[in-house]
Amino acid sequence: MREKQRKLQLPEKLRWNHNEWYRRWLLRQLPSQVGSALDVGCGLGDLARSIRADEVTAIDASARMIERARATSEKVRWIHGDVLTHDLGRYNVVTAEASLHHLPLREGLTRLAGLTKPGGLLIVVGLYLTATRADHAMELVTLPANALVGIAKAINGTGGKPHDTEMPMVMTAPTLPEIRAAAAEIVPGARIRRHLFWRYSLVWRAPEVH
Ligand SMILES: C[S@@+](CC[C@H](N)C(=O)[O-])C[C@H]1O[C@@H](n2cnc3c(N)ncnc32)[C@H](O)[C@@H]1O
Repeated sequence: MREKQRKLQLPEKLRWNHNEWYRRWLLRQLPSQVGSALDVGCGLGDLARSIRADEVTAIDASARMIERARATSEKVRWIHGDVLTHDLGRYNVVTAEASLHHLPLREGLTRLAGLTKPGGLLIVVGLYLTATRADHAMELVTLPANALVGIAKAINGTGGKPHDTEMPMVMTAPTLPEIRAAAAEIVPGARIRRHLFWRYSLVWRAPEVH
C-alpha cells in the first residue's frame, strides 16, 4: 500500500480545488479550431463545457456525476461509462483532468492514446505521488503556495470546497518517474512537465499514422 499523497492538510476553510487550477492552461493548449473533443473522467463537466469544439463528448464512470453534468448543458454528449471499455471512437482532442490516476497507468495511457485521432492532441493534467528528491524540493514551494492560495481564496470567498463530495477520492497516484517511463513507451515524444500543487501535465501529438 502506497503512502498517502498529502501529509500536511490545510484546515478545512483554507482548502481549495487543485483540479481547476490548471484548467485555463489546459484550454490554452487547444488549437483554435477543434473538430471533435473527448473529456475523460469529466466529473461535473466544467472542463467539457469550456472546450470550444464542433462536438464535445464527455465520459464518466459515475452515474451521479453524469446525471448532474447532463443537467447543466445539452451541447455536450454526456456518456456514463468506463473509458477503458466503452465504445468511443477517436477524437481530434482528448483531455483528462485529474482522472488518469483513477486508471491503471499503462492501460489508461494506452487507452487515451488510442482514443486520439492521428495528428490529434492528448492533454493530461494529472496528480503524481511525491517520491523523489526533486519532488520533495518542489514541496518547499508547493506547501507555502498552497496555503497562500487557500488564504486568498478564503478572503475572496471562492475557497473552502476542495473537491466535490460525490467525486471518488483516490489518495494514491503514480510517481513522476513511473509516468515518464510509461509515457516514453506508450506516447513517445510527449512533453511532460512538473507543476505546483502535486500536478504534472502531459501533452502528446499523435503521429499522423498510429
Ligand atoms: C477527481 S475526478 C475529476 C473530475 C474532473 N475531470 C475535474 O477535474 O473536476 C475523477 C473522475 O474520473 C472518473 N473516473 C474514474 N474512473 C473512470 C473510468 N474508468 N472511466 C471514466 N471515468 C472515470 C470519476 O468518476 C471522477 O468523476
